[in-house]
Amino acid sequence: MVYYIHRIEKGLSHKHFRSGFGKSAFAELKAVMERWRESGYSTDDGTYQAAQNVIRAYVYKHRAIGKPIPQFVGEWFADEVASADKACGNEGNAGVKIVRASDKLDNKTKNYATLFAQRTSVREYAGTSVDMQAVHEAIAISMKTPSVCNRQAYRILLVQNQELVKRALELQGGWRGYDAPPVLALISVDVRSFVSVEERNEPYIDGGLFTMAFLTALEYESLASCPLNTMMRKQQERDIRELLDIPDYEVLIAFIAIGNVPESIESPISFRYKPETITRELR
Ligand SMILES: Cc1cc2nc3c(=O)[nH]c(=O)nc-3n(C[C@H](O)[C@H](O)[C@H](O)COP(=O)(O)O)c2cc1C
Repeated sequence: MVYYIHRIEKGLSHKHFRSGFGKSAFAELKAVMERWRESGYSTDDGTYQAAQNVIRAYVYKHRAIGKPIPQFVGEWFADEVASADKACGNEGNAGVKIVRASDKLDNKTKNYATLFAQRTSVREYAGTSVDMQAVHEAIAISMKTPSVCNRQAYRILLVQNQELVKRALELQGGWRGYDAPPVLALISVDVRSFVSVEERNEPYIDGGLFTMAFLTALEYESLASCPLNTMMRKQQERDIRELLDIPDYEVLIAFIAIGNVPESIESPISFRYKPETITRELR
């Protein structure tokens, strides 16, 4: 359900909004919402409510810009359409939120909890050039990332050449509908630092930790960013490696799109579960 909610949120956040989008995502969402109810799960659950709220946000957005609500939405989600205005508009746990450059100016004075909570993926950037010194500062901060036996096998490639950025993102496939970011980073891990087969997953752990540290450090530097997956089929990966000259002894962890925060931009809310949803304790 979260996957389809997110697909719709991304469509809602586009600067060049395409009204009436999302029929296939809504069809999937309808099916999983039905399964949820048939399975006897609570409709007061935050995830189910996020599904309802993203439908309401969709309706709200269409009404706000004077566009007709597609027939399939009216047919499949009559209750949510009826409650779109009074229930949440754009203030529920799904839909879009506004990200503003003015809110990021004093990021270096903020404490960790605030900085971490306000970081969010931004996919559309200001048209200004990125201060590469700030990106290098973010890498320097991220060097404190812990790694197994302190091997520090993560690597980072910074690409500014717009032709390469565009081609890499076409191959990556998860950036459709957005302009190329001014900077694209690729985080990888050098597997030559690993010595035996039990360590086979460790590159992904260390690389993931580095990625999170880097995302937070970019936020600290008041830069906007979005992590991008490297979930690839063989040929796709081969093409990316060839394009960006990545040696075969490095595994790919994640791309990170980087740019300046626009004056004001809409971004998916991407709600989070409550901590108790994911926590188990043995006493
Ligand atoms: C490893 C990883 C891969 C991701 N891949 C993509 C992607 O290909 N395209 C995209 O638009 N967002 C991608 N995202 C961004 C997620 O959608 C986003 O982090 C999530 O919805 C949480 O939102 P937040 O980053 O705003 O807190 C990725 C995030 C991670 C951590």
